[in-house]
Amino acid sequence: MRETLLPYGRQSVDDSDIRAVVDVLRSDWLTTGPKVGEFEGAFATRVQAKYAVSFSSGTAALHAAAFTAGLKAGDEAITTPMTFAATANCVLYQGATPVFADVRPDTLNVDPEQVEHRVTAKTRAILPVDYAGHPADLDAILEIARRHGLLVIEDACHALGAEYRGRAVGSVSDMTVFSFHPVKHITTGEGGMVATNDAQLAETLRRFRNHGISSDARQRQSAGQWHYEMVLLGFNYRLPDVVCALGIEQLKRLDANLARRREIAARYTAAFRETPGVIPPPVRTEVNPAWHLYPIRTDTAKLTTGRGEIFRALRAENIGVNVHYIPVHFHPYYRERFGYSGGEFPIAESAYERLISLPMFHAMTDRDADEVIEAVRKVFGHYSK
Ligand SMILES: Cc1ncc(COP(=O)(O)O)c(C=O)c1O
Repeated sequence: MRETLLPYGRQSVDDSDIRAVVDVLRSDWLTTGPKVGEFEGAFATRVQAKYAVSFSSGTAALHAAAFTAGLKAGDEAITTPMTFAATANCVLYQGATPVFADVRPDTLNVDPEQVEHRVTAKTRAILPVDYAGHPADLDAILEIARRHGLLVIEDACHALGAEYRGRAVGSVSDMTVFSFHPVKHITTGEGGMVATNDAQLAETLRRFRNHGISSDARQRQSAGQWHYEMVLLGFNYRLPDVVCALGIEQLKRLDANLARRREIAARYTAAFRETPGVIPPPVRTEVNPAWHLYPIRTDTAKLTTGRGEIFRALRAENIGVNVHYIPVHFHPYYRERFGYSGGEFPIAESAYERLISLPMFHAMTDRDADEVIEAVRKVFGHYSK
């Protein structure tokens, strides 16, 4: 149908982005200069949090949040299997154990009841993921956390700009983690952020990303000081000024990007409600999703074949479909280390068999979206019972 592959996600970079990056390249500070604080300040304001701390990736930001939550060997943290491996890996980086809880059948976000069942004396944190950009059951999860004295690290790598009960994602949980990978709502190439309302958590996050040192080079230069102290074991997870400048420009377009993603989602959902065999992603009334992904599910009872063949047929139409996610406990590393064999999380596992992510990015044209709809209708029509 299409002559070239329409990818499932893609960045958009414009002339103002390029100018901002070039200006920094001509300035005195390539890393940890004035653009870091400027980006963090603008970001915190946008997500209605008191503090935002930038990192070199969403994964580094998750690692820092796991450290800052005090996770250590012998501890447990509860998360979802329906996510990218980094969400659970950050618990392992701290020597602690990720404990999975199954998801809700509608949103595929972690089920608070399942979380509650898995709380033990060793649990220290809960890591919900806002799958596809649809916020998790945050109030229910926070209530469990408060009752048991746990911290909530929300993985909102899909959900920049989403709203939960009228509040911005980033202002709700103890720490909220974002990613600026090119397929996300805004990009810095690689990059991430943690938002928090807690000054102490923000301070530990800042130290962790800078070797555990209590001041940065620019602060020392402006104070005429050479002395510094390493107070905890941190990493170099800094996001350079060069790309913070890109982030500042991209953030100005976040609302336009979100509006476009919501338009595309509405166009898809209207079409797929009428397409036999396709189950569009449900949206709960209390949220406004950010639509990082648009994952449909195949309605197996109405189709003559499984996801695999439908996936290949869509690719043959040059529609760059993808699958999010192989449940984390299915990965060989997790199987071998923790003995998972399948069957432990039936809702996530059965959803995985049926998921297909359709192209979703803010630079998509109406024509792109209509070609996706046409291809889905053609392929599902062909395999419909
Ligand atoms: C849910 C989730 N968590 C964490 C990450 C890791 O972010 P990054 O790629 O910026 O390290 C991703 C990245 O795609 C993600 O989708």
